[in-house]
Amino acid sequence: MNSMNAAGFPKDDLTIRRFEPSDFREAVELDTEARGDHDPYLLTFFFENYPTTFLVAETNGRIAGMVLGFRQSPLEGRVFWLAVRSGRQGEGIGRRLMTELLEIFRRLGVISVILEVRTRNRRAQKLYLDLGFEIATACKNYYPDGEGAIIMRRSL
Ligand SMILES: CC(C)(COP(=O)(O)OP(=O)(O)OC[C@H]1O[C@@H](n2cnc3c(N)ncnc32)[C@H](O)[C@@H]1OP(=O)(O)O)[C@@H](O)C(=O)NCCC(=O)NCCS
Repeated sequence: MNSMNAAGFPKDDLTIRRFEPSDFREAVELDTEARGDHDPYLLTFFFENYPTTFLVAETNGRIAGMVLGFRQSPLEGRVFWLAVRSGRQGEGIGRRLMTELLEIFRRLGVISVILEVRTRNRRAQKLYLDLGFEIATACKNYYPDGEGAIIMRRSL
């Protein structure tokens, strides 16, 4: 049995849990690697304001992925950012993070979840479509670099 994945990381158990302050350094690394390029303060902001919907995927004591969500109104959730380490993509980690986040939103009473994704990001779009999101609308010049966004929505 092969105990390594294609990128040479060991295959192992994965835990989805809330972000903790000790995850900060690895989460910043992950954000940079996934081209999020967010201000690191964003992570602190989500931890302080939305701790129940800021999740990480931990494996062997390392952070392999994270999702930042928040309830933007009593009935509406928003997925702000999802990222998986490049060496761990394609293993179902993004799907696990999103599935757990949707379940938490459901428990919080959210009935609709919204997200935006870059027009060229087909991989993420496919994941969201697989998870039951539908295209709500498209916005040109949405991001600072001029790329457009597709806005997706899912009912819970
Ligand atoms: C988008 C991203 C989070 C997906 O995470 P992931 O852990 O690799 O995705 P999963 O392994 O859970 O795959 C879920 C689905 O994504 C799609 N997918 C995954 N890898 C893919 C690939 N190499 N090519 C095309 N689609 C792919 C498939 O639909 C897959 O479902 P399947 O396994 O049933 O075929 C990850 O690629 C990433 O971090 N990208 C950079 C940051 C980013 O773009 N974030 C999204 C911001 S909106």
